[in-house]
Amino acid sequence: MVGKMSILVTGGAGYLGSHTVLTLLQAGHSVVVLDNFSNSSAVVLSRIAQLAGRAPTFVRGDVRDGACLRNLFLKYPIQAVMHFAGLKSVAESARQPLNYYLNNVSGTLQLCQAMAEFGIYRLVFSSSATVYGDSNEMPLSEDSPTGVPTNPYGRSKLMVEELLQDLADAEGRWGIAVLRYFNPVGAHKSGFIGDDPNGTPNNLLPYISQVAVGRLKALQLFGNDYPTPDGTGVRDYIHVLDLAAGHLCALEAVGRRSGLSTWNLGTGRGYSVLEVISAFERACGRKVDFVIVPRREGDVAQCWADPGKAFRELGWRAERGLDEMMADAWRWQLTNPDGYKESGV
Ligand code: NAD
Ligand code: UD1
Repeated sequence: MVGKMSILVTGGAGYLGSHTVLTLLQAGHSVVVLDNFSNSSAVVLSRIAQLAGRAPTFVRGDVRDGACLRNLFLKYPIQAVMHFAGLKSVAESARQPLNYYLNNVSGTLQLCQAMAEFGIYRLVFSSSATVYGDSNEMPLSEDSPTGVPTNPYGRSKLMVEELLQDLADAEGRWGIAVLRYFNPVGAHKSGFIGDDPNGTPNNLLPYISQVAVGRLKALQLFGNDYPTPDGTGVRDYIHVLDLAAGHLCALEAVGRRSGLSTWNLGTGRGYSVLEVISAFERACGRKVDFVIVPRREGDVAQCWADPGKAFRELGWRAERGLDEMMADAWRWQLTNPDGYKESGV
């Protein structure tokens, strides 16, 4: 167990960052959140404060802004960084590649440069199972080959993984954790914080939740002709609080080992879209209407993790099952039908 630390969380107002900030505060760490609110709202910070009994320090700013980073490191005694800030929509990345490379790749370079200047060498980075591409061999272990990403978002994640490896190879003081997330879903038990995507959701769970709550009509189910047991896509859904717990374990690990380590954060179990719909219907007691439409371009048939390395090396494994993920996602949606918008804290 590492002692209490002072941690910078970039993108800490976002979906995954907010749950991790709460977990860090509850574990006794001091947290500084840096966020430009490009995909989040200030409301989340007061919700975190209510849940944790104390607030994270907040700096409104951009990871691409080197001066802002230096001021932050001058002002706060940061010992480690968790880097969530970035853009994450696959479809948008194809329309705005420059924006994606600037935020995800240049943003990370600026951050690492400022960290090195201030002698901060512990970093936990948000990568994605998307780097494995379209693989036939399941489960995916960290040794599975990375694929050829089909979009700028995926390429930006792979580029960052590679540039971080270069940093770790060149300077032995870096301790870097690359965490490859599978499909994070669910929300904190309180229903106070959760996933609040802008506009029409791209991802399955927020879409289903919004159908169930009556905000959207029917789910478009992208393809039932995949080579999977029921023909629909299979994914490894992981509860966001299990994911947050994985970050705490990775933080401890980068404190005791140098170099770059890669860990999958998944459950090791895949569920089809139809299984997810059924589980959600059980959780909310309502019918979720859907229509089958053609496959979405770029989707893989199946994707699930071998989470064994994280268990062996970090002592971490996911504990929450699909029903709990669905129940928590539904509680958040039901109590915040419009997300953080229009919310009086
Ligand atoms: P999110 O959009 O909810 O959170 C990202 C946060 O970063 C937002 O609060 C946004 O305002 C902020 N941000 C974006 N660009 C910034 C910049 N230049 N400077 C400062 N702040 C900036 O996304 P999320 O789901 O919480 O994802 C967090 C990270 O995890 C991202 O890097 C994403 O690519 C990665 N990831 C997410 C998933 C997923 O399913 N959610 C899966 C794999 C990887
Ligand atoms: C998607 C991204 C991936 C990113 C991840 C997390 C694509 C091609 N991939 O992964 O790069 O890391 O989100 O942000 O966008 N589905 C439907 N109808 C919908 C939405 C989804 O049927 O409206 C199906 C999909 O075909 C898939 C499953 O649900 O089988 C999960 O989809 P989604 O939640 O978007 O995650 P991924 O596609 O795994």
